[in-house]
Amino acid sequence: MDAAGAVLGLESSCDETAAAVLRADGTILAEAVLSQEQEHSPFGGVVPEIAARAHLEHLPRLAGQVMRQAGLEFAALAGIAATSGPGLIGGLIVGASFGKGLALARNLPFVAVNHLEAHALTATLPGLVEGGVRFPYLLLLVSGGHCQCVAVEGVGRYRRLGTTLDDAVGEAFDKSAKLLGLPWPGGPALEQLALRGDPARYPLPRPMLGRPGCDFSFSGLKTAVAHAVARFPAGGLPDQARADLAAGFQAAAAAVLADRAGNALRMLPGATALVVAGGVAANAAVRGALAAVAARRAIPLVAPPVRLCTDNAVMVAWTGIERLRLGLTDPLDHAPRPRWPLAEMAA
Ligand code: KG4
Ligand code: ZN
Repeated sequence: MDAAGAVLGLESSCDETAAAVLRADGTILAEAVLSQEQEHSPFGGVVPEIAARAHLEHLPRLAGQVMRQAGLEFAALAGIAATSGPGLIGGLIVGASFGKGLALARNLPFVAVNHLEAHALTATLPGLVEGGVRFPYLLLLVSGGHCQCVAVEGVGRYRRLGTTLDDAVGEAFDKSAKLLGLPWPGGPALEQLALRGDPARYPLPRPMLGRPGCDFSFSGLKTAVAHAVARFPAGGLPDQARADLAAGFQAAAAAVLADRAGNALRMLPGATALVVAGGVAANAAVRGALAAVAARRAIPLVAPPVRLCTDNAVMVAWTGIERLRLGLTDPLDHAPRPRWPLAEMAA
């Protein structure tokens, strides 16, 4: 595709509604994200039906807004890229159908983007890392819904090296935060609380630590937090104990992630970088532990800015550009896929 061409990216797979316009050289012409945190917070988690309705209400407006900011007419685009899986089916149908409708109306190529591939390719966005990131690299994807180690060997070439056997790490942060009386989503609040806690006061298990491979398990850690909380009378958890438990949980989670990432790097000896993405990548203790792992192998830890680590449409547009460059487009009858493993992305 022509270097001046621009692509509209649409994201609606979970609880962020997002749109962005990128030029083929990676320049971000416009981006917008609308979080549905307030809509879901009273329920303590994402409610799929509420999410789908919110995407339907906001996505067309956000798309119009970024196109105006980019100063482009829809007909001037080089293509439309919409997240088409994995994720919540209602939201995927909204975003993919809207994208396909635009593509049909303006006679544009359509790219059905795999959300995991979009997280994986974010690190290659020009300008993000000085000198760029070269393949192969190790991606550690740590969000509310995903926890996996992926060998990224090229566009469309991914090998999942390990994944969680139960909860995703963000889910464990959120559930532990809830046990400590924090509002959803609990990750950021738990990190704040941990700042004034002693991580050694309540030693918590570090599931999978020292085991071969790079699979994860977090439900036992969350259960240990639940047991520790249950030792206090109902509603009587002292404030310092809350902070200590938050610090203990965070230290255990960071240690496990670092141990698993270290093993994954041994499984990909040629890795040029350790790339971390997903909401949990915003956590300073996690970043610190991963930086130490990368330093031991003399490779950089690449952590995109938080707005590009969490769900966004810049990564979707960028993936669309990479695929269009390879001549990879999708038919307008492409069906959204709630489950869509990266291994099936072979270009
Ligand atoms: O990538 P993301 O925005 O959405 C998906 O899950 O796809 O990740 C959200 C997750 C939530 O579980 C949230 O609690 C967690 O990332 N999170 C954090 C922090 N910021 C967000 N966990 C720990 N520390 C943080 N600072
Ligand atoms: Zn995501």
